[in-house]
Amino acid sequence: MANRSPRIAIVTGAARGIGAAVAERLLSDGLSVALIDMDGDALSTTVERLAGLGPALGITADVRDPAAVDAAVARVRDDLGAPTVLVNNAGYIRDNLFHKMTLENWDDIMDVHLRAAFLVTHAVQPYMSEAKSGRIVNISSIAALGNRGQANYSTAKAGIQGFTRTLAIELGRFGVTANAIAPGFIETDMTRSTAARMRVDFDDFKEQVAQQIALGRVGQPSDIAGVVSFLVGPDSSYVTGQVIYAAGNPTV
Ligand SMILES: NC(=O)c1ccc[n+]([C@@H]2O[C@H](COP(=O)([O-])OP(=O)(O)OC[C@H]3O[C@@H](n4cnc5c(N)ncnc54)[C@H](O)[C@@H]3O)[C@@H](O)[C@H]2O)c1
Repeated sequence: MANRSPRIAIVTGAARGIGAAVAERLLSDGLSVALIDMDGDALSTTVERLAGLGPALGITADVRDPAAVDAAVARVRDDLGAPTVLVNNAGYIRDNLFHKMTLENWDDIMDVHLRAAFLVTHAVQPYMSEAKSGRIVNISSIAALGNRGQANYSTAKAGIQGFTRTLAIELGRFGVTANAIAPGFIETDMTRSTAARMRVDFDDFKEQVAQQIALGRVGQPSDIAGVVSFLVGPDSSYVTGQVIYAAGNPTV
């Protein structure tokens, strides 16, 4: 078989959790991967851990910052090559019941999920259009369907779904697919911090959540990485504009 040069992927929020598992999986699948995160220390540790799997480039950047995003994408192009796979994953939560939610909580969440996804996709999309090939995977959440204490996050994650569908419509003619994954409860620092905030033991918290899940367990980052691998791989070339719920439960 002819040797083809590896495709170049960008994964945001890749220092830990779902993003790190996605980077690991894409490297194992033979892609070159740029891992972007604003936590430089955690990023270095992850890049060091994954370096044996393939070309892994760590870039410390805040994906809410247009100049930082442009510089990061230019560095990916210079050091690895033109990126044609993008996973918009970076994010955090600022939960509060609606009557206590501040405008700062609201704006913060719109920025890290929607503004950042806009900025990174905008910077990467020209390379995909030029190559007439690209895969965009945006990380949404089951919270898009509504979740107590998450008016901001739920709105942003629903927004990600509209963004994804529209990208699919506009970029299809350039050979670019755009899909979203909506994870349920995944065991990461994000869910660990939710348990800490609620002052419950994380193992008890997971057990409680697992009782509500058809598959009887909470999700692992690798459960989401596997879906990303499918969505950027050859078997999903005719799948676009979809939201795949990966929650261990049927979801309406
Ligand atoms: N864990 C879950 O249960 C769950 C469920 C549904 C959706 N999600 C989504 O999956 C994604 C990853 O979540 P996770 O659980 O792995 O979280 P995590 O907290 O474990 O990791 C998120 C990473 O994103 C980075 N990050 C945050 N803001 C950034 C910014 N502005 N610029 C650059 N990097 C930034 C953080 O430094 C961190 O390394 C998020 O979009 C989250 O909303 C998570």
